[in-house]
This record gives sequence, structure tokens and C-alpha cells, in this order.
Amino acid sequence: MSFNPIGLNNKKFLITGAASGLGKSISILLSQLGAELILVDVNENGLDDTIKLCKTNSKKLVLDLTNTENIRPKIEEIILEFGKIDGLVHSAGISYLSPLKFVDKEITTNVFLLNTYAAIELSKIFTDRNMSTKEGSIVFISSIYGCVGSVANVGYAMSKSALHGITKSLAIELAPKKIRVNCVAPGFIETEMFKSMANNFGPDYYQNITNLHPLGLGKAEDVAGVIAFLLSNMSKWITGSIINVDGGYTAQ
Ligand SMILES: NC(=O)c1ccc[n+]([C@@H]2O[C@H](COP(=O)([O-])OP(=O)(O)OC[C@H]3O[C@@H](n4cnc5c(N)ncnc54)[C@H](O)[C@@H]3O)[C@@H](O)[C@H]2O)c1
Repeated sequence: MSFNPIGLNNKKFLITGAASGLGKSISILLSQLGAELILVDVNENGLDDTIKLCKTNSKKLVLDLTNTENIRPKIEEIILEFGKIDGLVHSAGISYLSPLKFVDKEITTNVFLLNTYAAIELSKIFTDRNMSTKEGSIVFISSIYGCVGSVANVGYAMSKSALHGITKSLAIELAPKKIRVNCVAPGFIETEMFKSMANNFGPDYYQNITNLHPLGLGKAEDVAGVIAFLLSNMSKWITGSIINVDGGYTAQ
């Protein structure tokens, strides 16, 4: 048998945002590496498509993660049925572009609830030993805009830079429980989120954004590989790290 250092046979993970983009690509790769998955998203049709492409046993959970009260009971219920999980990835997220003077409290709160607060609720569940195995890995997905600034981006940047603080604090708090916590900060990836932004802002936008990445725009699988590494035993001495996966965007 060939040696696969990031093989994930007999591992179980929960992936949010699994109906589309990065979450979908992450789910497919993890299943190819042998992991069984709980796939969470608000979009049921998208979840069904992802499940068809997964190679191993996957269960879907249709859930609006901005509805904070529902997260714990729904996720605990499905984990009790599925078995303890070895890790989780919080990929569900929305973007919010608005010039400062139009920044809206209600929209900002909604962005925060999904992109940021859901990560805290999911981590709480994961620390319950009835829900997770002895050694675990939590991975959040932030953005280059958690690290560097851009115009009209305070709401999204707030939600993603907050994830960096959460990552570092939880890494320290949860190390004694043998739970690692890391975060991947992607540059622009050609997913539905990016395509809808490109459609809104016209043809120059696509080229201008591409030019900001020395290695060009990313593909979802470029991020998925790093996530698989962070969930695997190969990264067992990595915690509290923010890993930029951005084609060189933030190196400039
Ligand atoms: N695409 C990029 O260029 C890019 C760059 C940096 C960071 N990111 C981050 O990566 C993550 C994934 O983005 P993507 O590009 O795959 O986007 P996407 O829009 O393709 O996927 C996001 C998923 O989140 C789900 N979702 C939205 N609201 C939800 C809710 N209330 N409850 C549950 N699920 C909900 C959507 O249904 C969708 O399946 C996001 O956190 C995003 O901020 C994306």
C-alpha cells in the first residue's frame, strides 16, 4: 500500500458552507482522502450536489448559521447520530462591501453572526467530549482582508480579522485539551462569491483583482489542500496559525 501522510481514513469532520465554493471543494477532497463528513449549509440543493460528489458516507444538515439558538441543538443531534467528530471547518460566509457612510448595523450584525460568531458556537460544541474525539483540529476560513485593508470593506474585514483573534485565543485555551485551532486566509478564489462580485463591478474589476495576485487568482482546490493538511496529523505541532493562501497577495 502506498504511503499517504495526509490520509484521513476513519476520520470524521463537520464542514460548514459545504454547498458551494471552498466548502464544497474541501468536502470533496476530504472524502477522497477517506474522511466521513457532516455537511452543513442553508442551501439544501447545493448540499445534495456536494453529497453526490463525495466518495464516502456524508450526512447533510440544512441550517441557517445566523440563527444562533439553533446551532447547538441541531449540530449535537446530528453528531450523536453520526459519531464523534475529529475536526471541523467553518467555511460558510458572506461578503459585505459598503462605503463607510452606508455601513448598516443590521447587515453588519448578520455578517458577524455567520462569519464570526458561528465559529465560536461551533468551537463550544467541539470542546464537549461527547461530540469530539480525544485530539481535534478546528480550522476557520478568514480572508486576506483580515490581514490587509481595502476600500469599502469594514464589515467584512471586521468579521474576518476577528477570526484571527479567536484563532489565537482558542489555540491557547484549548491546547491542554489537545485541540488545535488554525485559520486559513485566502486571496481571491474563483467561486460563486467572487463571480457575483465581478458581475457587480464590471470587466476591469476581474483584471484588477487578478493583477493583485503574483500567482494569479486561486482555485478552490488550492485552499482545500491546506485545510486537509491542517486536519491531518502532519500538522500536529501547528496551532494558533493564520496561514495565508493568497498567491502572494500579502507578500507585496
Ligand atoms: N471566494 C473567495 O475569493 C474568498 C476569498 C477569501 C475568503 N473567502 C471565504 O471563504 C469562505 C467560503 O467562501 P466561498 O467563496 O466558498 O463562498 P460561496 O458563496 O461559494 O459559499 C459560501 C457558502 O456559505 C453558505 N451560507 C451562506 N449563508 C449561510 C447561512 N446563514 N447559514 C449557513 N450557510 C450559509 C452558502 O449557502 C454557501 O454554500 C467564506 O467564509 C469567505 O468569506 C472566500
